[in-house]
Amino acid sequence: MSGRSERRADLIVVGAGIAGLTAALSAAEQGLRVVVLNKGPRWNPDDAEHPTSTFYAQGGIAVVDPRIADDSINLHVTDTLNAGAGLTDPVSTRPILADGWPAVGQLVDRGAHFDTGADGRFLRTREGGHSVRRIIHAGGDATGARVQQALGEAAGAAGLVVLDDTWASDVLVDRGEVVGASYVTDGIAGVVWAPTVLLATGGVGHVYAATTNPAGATGDGIALALRAGAAVADLEFVQFHPTMLYVPGARGRRTLVSEAVRGEGGRLVDANGESVTAGVHPLGDLAPRDVVARAVAAAMERTGAECVHLDIRGVERFAERFPTVTAGVRASGLDIVDGFLPVVPGAHYLCGGVETDVDGRTDVPGLLAAGETARTGLHGANRLASNSLLEGLVMGRRAAVQAAARADRDIREVDVPDLGSTRVCDRTALQDAMSHHVALDRDAAGLDAVAALLDAAPCVPRTDLRTAEDAALLLTARAIVAAARAREESRGCHQRDDHPATADVAVSRRFVLRGDELVAAGERAVPSS
Ligand code: FAD
Ligand code: SIN
Repeated sequence: MSGRSERRADLIVVGAGIAGLTAALSAAEQGLRVVVLNKGPRWNPDDAEHPTSTFYAQGGIAVVDPRIADDSINLHVTDTLNAGAGLTDPVSTRPILADGWPAVGQLVDRGAHFDTGADGRFLRTREGGHSVRRIIHAGGDATGARVQQALGEAAGAAGLVVLDDTWASDVLVDRGEVVGASYVTDGIAGVVWAPTVLLATGGVGHVYAATTNPAGATGDGIALALRAGAAVADLEFVQFHPTMLYVPGARGRRTLVSEAVRGEGGRLVDANGESVTAGVHPLGDLAPRDVVARAVAAAMERTGAECVHLDIRGVERFAERFPTVTAGVRASGLDIVDGFLPVVPGAHYLCGGVETDVDGRTDVPGLLAAGETARTGLHGANRLASNSLLEGLVMGRRAAVQAAARADRDIREVDVPDLGSTRVCDRTALQDAMSHHVALDRDAAGLDAVAALLDAAPCVPRTDLRTAEDAALLLTARAIVAAARAREESRGCHQRDDHPATADVAVSRRFVLRGDELVAAGERAVPSS
């Protein structure tokens, strides 16, 4: 492609959320030349919408403060394994959680401020599945906005090269190893040559009609990895948050009502005023997220109501403690008048993803993944609340170490493929089908129907970001459906009406792309401890 912009780097980071910017800053501190590709606009706190899930994070970061007597890494590991419904890998979980405290310390050094009490220590809240208060937060429930601001400012101060409004189109591979990535900015194609590419592209929420995720959460990292030859695993485990604000008929990004509201005294009640979770789980409203989301759905079914309510009358100084939720409720045209917020389960988080080891390496040399797009084994079949920001921090740092180890490798510049054509499905049809058949409850007939719809998607030229996102949504949805069809059991976020039992052995399954086919590429029993 003549006239194309070309650059060289030691590390290309795709994504500018917590995982991407942490990796980029850590790599730059080690002297690496880093280029960040960010399909979102330059970060501006005054924008109405933001391109990262990181910005929208509310509850906080789950981390064991070693100075606190009632908590320990062992307890955090136990809570994470319990939430993960047998599929969380203890081998990767322990080192990731154990690295949390130094990673948070580095974030503080980079300018993040967390809420503190009179003794100067971090205030800690509680969320579903945690046996103690261990979640640190900032600005009440503005944790993500504060973290994004700190990282954005640190990136500016470090002089990081961040190409905003720039979408990564392909990972370039030569003889099985990464040599760079192609991108498009303002309609112009470009390429960065580098021995290492980190995918830190976030989530997949817009595979569904309504989600807590920002508009750009379209599964780009899943699609980039599959097309580069890497495996994805456990994609059937899409986590639905129990309390997304209910606005009748609304689609797209919706306001989240943080689990920390329940941690601070909020109660879920059905249309008759009865507790939603009574008798469901010993932790009640603070049970793991998959359990509470199903209890909410069951209450809606039982009463015929379109939502349940979060009774916030017992939460002290609600607007002060939860300013983000309060602003989101008002922006949705609702008001908190009587102390009851209408909520429903909403697509929130992908527990599986691009399969990596505990250092962020995929099975394609030079291709790393971190943050929500990756599957390290930490989240199993259901992520423990507030473990995601922690994982992004820890794995971002680890990815930088891997990039440093590869920085001296020679790479050969290859022919850069044209954008070409791609299969896409009408976005509304895809989202509706996934929301009806591949959400909280699944069965073979529904999965077959969605697979048929997705398989019939036509080819179009991959000319612009919208088409590229539609292509990523399609490939991601196909991979979720393939994984959900293969899992003939119910576990964590994946519940099959036609296979309600949980298998004795928890198995993680991987898929790869061969031509245009998603192919099962092995399975592995997850050790129990
Ligand atoms: P993101 O922060 O989503 O960043 C992705 C980046 O990739 C963006 O910059 C995007 O522009 C870029 N990108 C995507 N595709 C491309 C492409 N093709 N080319 C170039 N750039 C691309 N977790 C917690 O631990 N605690 C919480 O309290 C919490 N609250 C949450 C509340 C909400 C409303 C949501 C949505 C999530 C919450 N989560 C929480 C989950 C957590 O915020 C996310 O999992 C995490 O922030 C993901 O970080 P990331 O760096 O992987 O991706
Ligand atoms: C929340 O604040 O409820 C979201 C926390 C998370 O997704 O981990």
